[in-house]
Amino acid sequence: MSGSVFDRTPEQNALVEGWTPPEIDVSRAQSARMYDYYLGGKTNFAPDREAAEAALATFPSLRVGAQANRAFLLRLVRHLAGLGITQFLDIGTGIPIEGRNTHDVAQAIAPESRVVYVDNDPIVLAHARALMTGHPAGSTAYIDADVRDPDSILDHPALASTLDLTRPVAVLLVAVLHFIVDEDKPAEILTRLTDGLPSGSHLGLSHGTSDFAPEVFEKLYETYQQAGVSGQTRSRSEFAALVPDGWEITAPGVDLVTHWHPDDPEAPRPDAEHVYFYGLLARKR
Ligand SMILES: C[S@@+](CC[C@H](N)C(=O)[O-])C[C@H]1O[C@@H](n2cnc3c(N)ncnc32)[C@H](O)[C@@H]1O
Repeated sequence: MSGSVFDRTPEQNALVEGWTPPEIDVSRAQSARMYDYYLGGKTNFAPDREAAEAALATFPSLRVGAQANRAFLLRLVRHLAGLGITQFLDIGTGIPIEGRNTHDVAQAIAPESRVVYVDNDPIVLAHARALMTGHPAGSTAYIDADVRDPDSILDHPALASTLDLTRPVAVLLVAVLHFIVDEDKPAEILTRLTDGLPSGSHLGLSHGTSDFAPEVFEKLYETYQQAGVSGQTRSRSEFAALVPDGWEITAPGVDLVTHWHPDDPEAPRPDAEHVYFYGLLARKR
C-alpha cells in the first residue's frame, strides 16, 4: 500500500494490535511504547521492551503505577462527563487501549462528546486515527504536536473545528507533565493552553512523584536517561504549583491517583510507593 499511514482511511490501515507503520522509528525506546509495555499492550518493540525491563528491574511496581494511572484517567473522564462536560482536549494520549480511551468513556455517558487527541509520537497517532473513530453523534480528531509548543495545538485547525472553545472544555494531561522538564517551563505551557478557555472549564492532571521512594527514582531516572527518554518527577507541592492562577483544585485536592474518587473507597489499595502518581482536577473560576 502506498502513501503515508496518515493518508489512508482506518479501513485501509486494517489495524491489528502490534502493527507498525513503516515510517515509525523502532530503533530507540519511546515513552509511549514503554508505557504500553507496562500496561500489557503489544504495540512496543525490542528497544522499548529492553528499556522497560531495565526500568522494571529497578522498580517492579512500575506496572502497578501505570495501571493505577490509566484507571485514574478513566474515572476522571467519567467524573467530568457526570459534571456535564462534553468537550475534551486529551494531550499525551498514549497508545489506544480498546474500549478504555477518553472518548469511549465520555461517549458512553454522552454520545455527542467531542474529543481532540494530541501526541508527539507518530505511532500513537497512527493507532489513534485508525482505532478511535467514536460514536457517530460525537466527534474525535487527532493533532500531531509537541505540548512544549502549545501554539501548535491552539492554532491547529482540527481544534476549532472539533471543539467549541466558547463552551467549557476539559484539558487533560495525564502522565505527561513529568516528561516536561523545568527548563521547558511546564507552568507557562499550561497557562498558555488554558488562558482562552471559558469559566467552568476543567484541567485534569496526573504526575509521577518520587516523594515515596526517592532512592529508587534516582536509579529509575538514570535508566530512562540511558534509554534517551528525558523527564523529571515532582513533589506534591511542585505538582500543585503547575496549576495556573485563576483555577481552583477541586475535592479531594492533590492526592494519589488511587485515592482520587475511588470506585470503592473500602477496597484495599496499593501502598503509595507502588502508586507513585499524584492526580488532581482543577476548575476555572
Ligand atoms: C505515559 S503516556 C500517558 C498516556 C495516557 N495519557 C494515560 O495516562 O494513560 C505519556 C504520553 O505522552 C506523550 N508525550 C510525551 N511527551 C510529549 C510531548 N512533549 N508532547 C506531546 N505528547 C507527549 C507520549 O508520547 C505518551 O503517549
